[in-house]
Amino acid sequence: MCGIVGYIGGKQAAPLLLKGLEKLEYRGYDSAGLAVVNEGEIIVKKARGRLLMLEEMTEYGACVDGRLGIGHTRWATHGEPNDVNSHPHLSLSGRVALVHNGIVENYAELRSFLSEEGYTFVSDTDTEVVVQLIDHYYRGDPASAVRKAAEQLRGSFALGIVFADRPDLFIALRKDSPLVVGLGRGENFIASDVPALLAHTRQIIRLGELEMAVVTREGVTVYDHFGVKVEHEVLNITWDAASAEKGGYEHFMLKEIMEQPEAFRRTVAPRIKDDGTIELGLQKLSDDALRSLERIYIVACGSSYHVGMVARYAIERMARVPVTVSLASEFRYDNPMIGSETLVIIISQSGETLDTLFALREAKERGARVLSIVNVVGSSIAVESTDVLYTWAGPEIAVATTKAYSTQLALMQLFTIYLARVRGKLTDNEAKAEVNALLATPDRLSALLKDTSDLQFLASLYFNRRDIFFMGRNIDYALALEGSLKLKEISYIHSEAYAAGELKHGTISLIEPGTLVIALCTGASLHEKMISNIREVKARGATVIALTTTPIYIDPEHPNANPDHVIYLPDCGELCAPSLTVVPLQLLAYYVALLKGCDIDKPRNLAKCVTVE
Ligand code: G6P
Repeated sequence: MCGIVGYIGGKQAAPLLLKGLEKLEYRGYDSAGLAVVNEGEIIVKKARGRLLMLEEMTEYGACVDGRLGIGHTRWATHGEPNDVNSHPHLSLSGRVALVHNGIVENYAELRSFLSEEGYTFVSDTDTEVVVQLIDHYYRGDPASAVRKAAEQLRGSFALGIVFADRPDLFIALRKDSPLVVGLGRGENFIASDVPALLAHTRQIIRLGELEMAVVTREGVTVYDHFGVKVEHEVLNITWDAASAEKGGYEHFMLKEIMEQPEAFRRTVAPRIKDDGTIELGLQKLSDDALRSLERIYIVACGSSYHVGMVARYAIERMARVPVTVSLASEFRYDNPMIGSETLVIIISQSGETLDTLFALREAKERGARVLSIVNVVGSSIAVESTDVLYTWAGPEIAVATTKAYSTQLALMQLFTIYLARVRGKLTDNEAKAEVNALLATPDRLSALLKDTSDLQFLASLYFNRRDIFFMGRNIDYALALEGSLKLKEISYIHSEAYAAGELKHGTISLIEPGTLVIALCTGASLHEKMISNIREVKARGATVIALTTTPIYIDPEHPNANPDHVIYLPDCGELCAPSLTVVPLQLLAYYVALLKGCDIDKPRNLAKCVTVE
């Protein structure tokens, strides 16, 4: 959601900024722009639509001179996506330009203050208020002007700011929105995320809350909220640039689906000791703390929330701890009943989802311990949690998550076994058997991914359907929600997921001859109930694709009652089943979207990292 890049160095800035923005396209955007400082002037170029428009307008940056600049991809919040509302925004005087990710909540108040001071506005954005405010305070000291303005801002912001009369520096500042600094030789950078920097450097600093970086060619100085210098650990990014490239696949999403066996292995195997026991590597959460906790809250958004739903079933069954799963955007306003006896587990791929971050803070304020399951090392959620377990999925670029989801599942499965063992609900041998099943999952995933032709065929039969329903019970219901989300987010087909027993209470009225229903029946104990539910929708004319581990009896006497297609999955036990079930759902969504010609990696209106509430 909004991408920011910034550069100062010896090279022409504009082409470099555009390349950086290309790497942030996955975040979701509807316009793009850049501002470059040259000979005492700020040149701003911006355009609605894809980055290509801006690239063509500037001859891929070649026609914009200057060695210092900022760039932006905008995901509209205040004001429609058009050229004027695009970033960067230039102050009325032309002295300051700025890019912003986040929302300034008190912008109306600030706008009227600035109007009284004689400022006029050309856009409908909250961001333009910030640039005028900085301009208002600017007397030749950029850091002091930015600090004064920032003190007046409420809401969330990551900012990159340039000054017409300062070709020697630019400023970056963040609160509740991610921003990283890239350190080069004789050149330095900022970006919303690491992939934008990898062509130039692997040395990065993650700016902390309300920290400001003054970036020059020679170096970067970071200050805290009070203007005191902060020393930061420089992180060395080990994954190579190629892991954020498509590597021969048509889409990142397919590449990331195919990377799941390896990502799963990377996340699980290093945490298993030679004797088959688990070593999670928790720093602060002791076994005693895990033994004494009375309840667990799992809080997340989107697919990460669906992982939480799967984990609830597993934890309650195996470790016998009551679990509540909450949407992060609801949790904050729920007045949740949590305290020191509660463990709050936060699940987030990006570690920057704003609702999830705020939910974490709420939980901490209420005295809960917070364990986060995060993919991005050093992200805000990781840093602010009591303890963090990283999913080692590698960079995930496609907006619709696949491998991050799978590694979150893997880590939650591992945590469940560990918790159950610590609380005496599993014997050593039982725990080892579960661990072995987990260790066998990557090979099973590879086998499933070897041949995708059945799913391509099914997609070719049904890609033009208007509505597609998913149903399942218990864990399969949680999987149905994920399958339905995957399908609708990338193919734009209307889709809903239902707890199969609930169909009769409303949804079944939507089933017409030809409606496609995807029935998940991987849970052996609920198999017969699911077969009854399949018959109910078949009786109303639905077309059914069933996913199962148990053979489905095909009734020759009543051919119309049988599912139209059956996908068999290997039986790997209840805990590991979701890791396999999700794969055909991801592939089906992918191939349906492919046949519909959708923009699979960057679906309309969606963002990879949602940094607004
Ligand atoms: C966005 C992404 C989803 C993701 C959700 C939560 O909606 O498109 O794929 O599941 O945010 O993101 P997080 O980074 O917190 O897991």
